[in-house]
Amino acid sequence: MKPTEQLLNEILDEVRPLIGKGKVANYIPALAEVPADKLGIAVCYNDGEIIQAGDSEEGFSIQSISKVLALTLAMTLYQPEEIWRRVGKEPSGHAFNSMIQLELENGIPRNPFINAGALVVSDLLHSRLSAPQYRMLELVRGLAQNPHIAYDKVVASSEMQHSDRNASIAYLMRSFGNFDNEVMPVLSNYFSYCALKMSCVDLARTFSYLANKGLPLGAKKTIVTQTQCKQMNALLATCGLYDGAGEFAYRVGMPGKSGVGGGIVAIVPGEMAIAVWSPELDPSGNSLAGTAALELLAERIGRSIF
Ligand code: DON
Repeated sequence: MKPTEQLLNEILDEVRPLIGKGKVANYIPALAEVPADKLGIAVCYNDGEIIQAGDSEEGFSIQSISKVLALTLAMTLYQPEEIWRRVGKEPSGHAFNSMIQLELENGIPRNPFINAGALVVSDLLHSRLSAPQYRMLELVRGLAQNPHIAYDKVVASSEMQHSDRNASIAYLMRSFGNFDNEVMPVLSNYFSYCALKMSCVDLARTFSYLANKGLPLGAKKTIVTQTQCKQMNALLATCGLYDGAGEFAYRVGMPGKSGVGGGIVAIVPGEMAIAVWSPELDPSGNSLAGTAALELLAERIGRSIF
């Protein structure tokens, strides 16, 4: 069954009572100011049709969802082995900003979606692009077909002022020889990617390429190959929700990526990309009501990759 606007509204009404049961991220102070009762959802079919409900056009901080875009960009710039000798493909089973494994595993992060892995990917982008921030913006604006997408400078500088943990992670990797550039400029770019401000509609459009064998919305050429698209979806299914990836696979059954801004993107390969937003998070840092909304949607439309 195809989701209708009515179904999406019903789902949002069903999950709304969960608001108040999670926690808005506050380790980035600017994020703590976002009203907790925001709730939105958008579905983008591979033919471009959008179905949406709630606060689906309001921009929010995409945070770790940007890690998928950074990896996509890196895949267009590097040979696979140049990426995968520096970062793994395994779920970490630890929090997204954990350092525990990193020292034990010689500075090689488990996967590109935990902070350590995304910092390696940002380091790769820094080495090969003269202006990675502009290239990223160009990429996202094109994928979302929205030239107004921008970085939220308040969020980026708020995170820069509270960057001790990410800086520690990067310096630890540098001590193992797995970080080529100066830490602070790479960190600054990474925080900007995380501070991209986008709506559910923007995100659903942007990630359409992962539902459509690498072909972005309205494009004639793929951005990643069909094989890379499949690989990316596999990584999202196993690592996209951090130490909550198993729970998300069990409840939702779609490749997905969350961010501490409360957004989650989920993919139904061959059919649609979905984006939800609800700022309160569960203990793994994934949107509480957002996960519940995706679980209901998956059930009602009868979709799962499993
Ligand atoms: O580096 C950080 O901690 C944040 N900019 C991003 C973390 C994040 O979104 C984790 N997601 N659930």
